Amino acid sequence: MEPVKNTTGSKILATFQTPEREVNIESRLQLETYIASADHHAVEAADRREVLSRLAQPQKTLPAKYFYDARGSELFEEICGLPEYYPTRTEAWILDRYAGEIASATGLCELVELGSGSSTKTRALLDSYCNLGGALRYSPIDVSRTILTDSARQLLRDYPTLRVRGAIATYDHALASLPPTDLPSRMLVFLGSSLGNLTPGECDRLFDQVQGFLDAGEYFLLGVDLHKSTAQLEAAYNDSRGVTAEFNLNVLAHLNRRFGANFDRANFEHWAFYNEGDRQIELHLRCLRGHEVTIGDRSITFTEGETIRTEISRKFDVEAVWQQLDRHDLEPINVWRDPQNWFASILSRRRVR
Ligand code: TRP
Repeated sequence: MEPVKNTTGSKILATFQTPEREVNIESRLQLETYIASADHHAVEAADRREVLSRLAQPQKTLPAKYFYDARGSELFEEICGLPEYYPTRTEAWILDRYAGEIASATGLCELVELGSGSSTKTRALLDSYCNLGGALRYSPIDVSRTILTDSARQLLRDYPTLRVRGAIATYDHALASLPPTDLPSRMLVFLGSSLGNLTPGECDRLFDQVQGFLDAGEYFLLGVDLHKSTAQLEAAYNDSRGVTAEFNLNVLAHLNRRFGANFDRANFEHWAFYNEGDRQIELHLRCLRGHEVTIGDRSITFTEGETIRTEISRKFDVEAVWQQLDRHDLEPINVWRDPQNWFASILSRRRVR
């Protein structure tokens, strides 16, 4: 840690600096949980029903949010640093290089990030908005309380003028309930090609929600992973160290804890491939032997070789996304890409009607 100067100009030792700065951190941090406690049981019951109904379909599937408990969020951070997993590094390169252009395009605004995780890539944006001068505001949204609070505190330590208003919430809750800003504008940030984890129907619905969330003239920054060779794509989701496999299998532990299920991970293996027809990576858990799993009072049969599809990751082309944004009254302003054309960051603005 860098020793800082106090007001009299003498140096304070880093170790003595912590308590004072921690107080300052808490005063700049606001956290909200967007699942009201009165609703808690209703939400639990609805989530359980959704899981059961998805596991009752001929192709069993699971909602992607169950990847991100504390352990899953940690594993995901590890995936982001893997040599085969090019998206994080490529998007970080684009943001590092072009964050200045993005900030000058939007001017002063509050950054609101869907699925913020460790907020690592967001730092390039925060740096640029910091350079604009004026208030620095960040509203991260994540389903994992642990990663949200840890990352927020770290950011507050590193950006002394920053104020954070974090929301522990799903996309749905956040887009329906986040209050407006007192800054001139907001930019909703959706990085990591998380858009690709939604089906085309869900994606359309999210764009509707974004359209409803943003006021006229406010901004939407979207990161999308682009089409590329099957070999490169498949390597990214089948890393040699098996971290993606661990991430995939961790879903079962999360379901056990959350719904009192008795999944045994030894009965499943990780399977990921590129579905060229649908232009999507698919993550599955393949069942190795026939068995029954109970979730509370319900029982689910698994046959050998059958799979649970745990995630899709669709790959995009910029023109199609551009048009889709436009149809949702999100007027595209600019797009930035890496030199290899692997990833794109698209900035759009909610149309003034
Ligand atoms: N949205 C990213 C992607 O599709 C991150 C991600 C979601 C992911 N689920 C994943 C990465 C499963 C690896 C494995 O790539």
